[in-house]
Amino acid sequence: MANIPQRLATKVAFITGGAQGIGEKTARLFVKHGAKVVIADIQDDLGQSVCEDIGLDKATFIHCDVTIESDVENAINLTLAKYGKLDVMINNAATIDELSPNILDNDQSAFERVMRVNVTGVFLGTKHAARAMIPACSGSIIMMGSISGSIGGVISHAYSSSKHALVGLTKNTAAELGQYGIRVNCLSPHFIRSGSAIKVTSDLPEKYSKVYSNLKGVALTEDDVAEAALFLASDEARYISGHNLVLDGGFTVINPAFGLFARATPVE
Ligand SMILES: NC(=O)c1ccc[n+]([C@@H]2O[C@H](COP(=O)([O-])OP(=O)(O)OC[C@H]3O[C@@H](n4cnc5c(N)ncnc54)[C@H](O)[C@@H]3O)[C@@H](O)[C@H]2O)c1
Repeated sequence: MANIPQRLATKVAFITGGAQGIGEKTARLFVKHGAKVVIADIQDDLGQSVCEDIGLDKATFIHCDVTIESDVENAINLTLAKYGKLDVMINNAATIDELSPNILDNDQSAFERVMRVNVTGVFLGTKHAARAMIPACSGSIIMMGSISGSIGGVISHAYSSSKHALVGLTKNTAAELGQYGIRVNCLSPHFIRSGSAIKVTSDLPEKYSKVYSNLKGVALTEDDVAEAALFLASDEARYISGHNLVLDGGFTVINPAFGLFARATPVE
């Protein structure tokens, strides 16, 4: 720990959906880099136990359903009361619906549930983070997107729509909040084999779940996403705003219909 450069020393970070997965890994990495973190999630026992494991002097759990504005408002207020400021907001909480390849089998309620968590929740997180950051004239807001926010045909209509929306929200809020020194960026990972999103793809053909990128010898992990979040949160990214940083090993830059170059074998 002593040899790790403290890239987030003195910073306070708020991470939605931090009780598990990418959010948890991000919280743990941020603490290693000197940040104090607040984990906001609906899984109270899990979130609390993660904070206890990290150390309650460095991590705090707050129950927060990101779809309920009063929950988000309250959680940000508690963060300000405890730490006096908010430097980094990670809008990470998300959900996913059943994969159905036929739109006629998609129902309105499932679509709206995904949009409520993945878009409205991020809007509310961004709004209340901005409320805390504007007086300080600084801050970094990060949306957790997906490659399905850049290309079509990889996941459900609801999830893909929600992640496309986040790219738009990133650009629009970056345009507004730049005047206050607040940066807004989006992180868009490919599927992570250990992640919960992959569970919904398990009934798809095996080859689908093995195609991660054209980058040989590397499989994306939750730690890779946490490292990218660390970069965007840190002062090293101080001039980066309105950007969608895609973590896909080059997956989305290729049109598989054309093949000038040899393709790497998918990672096993
Ligand atoms: N895992 C992947 O393969 C992958 C790929 C691309 C993008 N992403 C994105 O990364 C983010 C994290 O993914 P993950 O795999 O770690 O997900 P996960 O399902 O493991 O964790 C999501 C967390 O969000 C919380 N959550 C859900 N609804 C909530 C709500 N209404 N209010 C507060 N918290 C809520 C859950 O309790 C959970 O702790 C998501 O935005 C996801 O869309 C994941």
